[in-house]
Amino acid sequence: MIDRRTFLAAAAAAGAAAGAEAADEKLAVAGGMPVRRQPLKTKNWGPEFYDDKERQQLDDVVEMRNPFRFANPEDRSKVAAFEREYAAYAHTKYALAVTSGTAALHCAMAALEVGPGDEVILPAWTWYSCYNTVIQAGALPVFAEIDESFNIDPADIEHRITPQTKVIMAVSLQGNPADMDRILPVARKHGLKVLEDFSQSVGAKYKGRPLGSMGDIGISSLQQSKTITAGEGGAVVTNDARLYERAFRFHDVGMLRGADGKRNFFPGLNYRMNEFTGGVLLTQLRKLDTIAGAVRANAGRVYGGIRDLPGVRLRKLPDPEGELGTGIFIGFRTSGERQRYAEAMRAENVPVSSPGGSVVLPVVPEIENKVTVAPGWPSFQTERGKAIRYGRECCPRTIDILSRFAGVMMDPKFTERDTADAVAAIRKVYPAI
Ligand SMILES: Cc1ncc(COP(=O)(O)O)c(C=O)c1O
Repeated sequence: MIDRRTFLAAAAAAGAAAGAEAADEKLAVAGGMPVRRQPLKTKNWGPEFYDDKERQQLDDVVEMRNPFRFANPEDRSKVAAFEREYAAYAHTKYALAVTSGTAALHCAMAALEVGPGDEVILPAWTWYSCYNTVIQAGALPVFAEIDESFNIDPADIEHRITPQTKVIMAVSLQGNPADMDRILPVARKHGLKVLEDFSQSVGAKYKGRPLGSMGDIGISSLQQSKTITAGEGGAVVTNDARLYERAFRFHDVGMLRGADGKRNFFPGLNYRMNEFTGGVLLTQLRKLDTIAGAVRANAGRVYGGIRDLPGVRLRKLPDPEGELGTGIFIGFRTSGERQRYAEAMRAENVPVSSPGGSVVLPVVPEIENKVTVAPGWPSFQTERGKAIRYGRECCPRTIDILSRFAGVMMDPKFTERDTADAVAAIRKVYPAI
């Protein structure tokens, strides 16, 4: 372990590669020289890698004048090619391309036959679409606490199971895989299905296994803020032929094109992906390892540079090797400490963010130091005696964790200097908090 003074001296000696542009012992928030002159900023990862290959795909579709996926034979369709390669990436038998992650979740609900009377257990901290699609299916979302991974706490699932529970939703937030080795046994013990939502962790792995391949069905968003993107897009993956058929029919107004069941009474919607989107996603998918590898390498440099800080409490990672490294999150004892850290880091021009999600909304805690909770649905007693709780009372631990963590967000295009600046700022500010 080296102390901060030694580190700063070494960083200065190493010059640009070491990063610390203007390392100064005095915090910038107290009038010292900031670590960087310009704020460290991230962009949308996928579009940073757009080049002639994506452009060529779009040109092809214009030339072919058949942007409707099913107007193309299977071996010419770009959407079908994307599905084949996405299934291979996810190590699943099937992949279904759809218009968004929300659409993919809706298809998964239909595939799993989630309906009125059913309950779905999901983390209290996740994206709106996760619980909205449960409600759209006519079922009830039941929130479980998260732990310091920001994902569902596997130890908080079992006591929420009732005879109505049908599905556990394992969401892998901000690049960090949900702890499937602890979630799957609970599900199997109670005969429940597992839906993996790895929208925010496309390219991450869990103990060598691709996300989406471990539960009964997996979904991902391919919207602009995700690892790869065509602006919008989504996918469902599964090894189960019946779940695939139900998801497929649901995404195409109940039809199963190319098979006998074209006319049927399955009540599907229209979530079909078009060929422009399919072409761009196919190209982005072929760049996924490059993008994920670059983010991981950058995060690795920052982790490596701060791990020895005395007392540092990093976000819990069930598989540090497989994590993407979307953000370098540090936990504090109180929200007040976190607030001071955020203010000091912003002054160093290495700003930090709160964990990203939706159900529990920390409203700019660094300014207001307060947490607002949504949704404001009424909690109630079920007929069979179990209470279903929403709002603040469903997840006090989740609110506490979210109010104490803050992270420097990563980008695949960060330079060595950027990551060294992140290290220098954390090393400068953290011990002073
Ligand atoms: C975890 C998670 N699930 C689902 C979605 C929904 O995806 P989309 O925006 O493509 O509908 C998102 C989007 O951010 C998400 O983060």
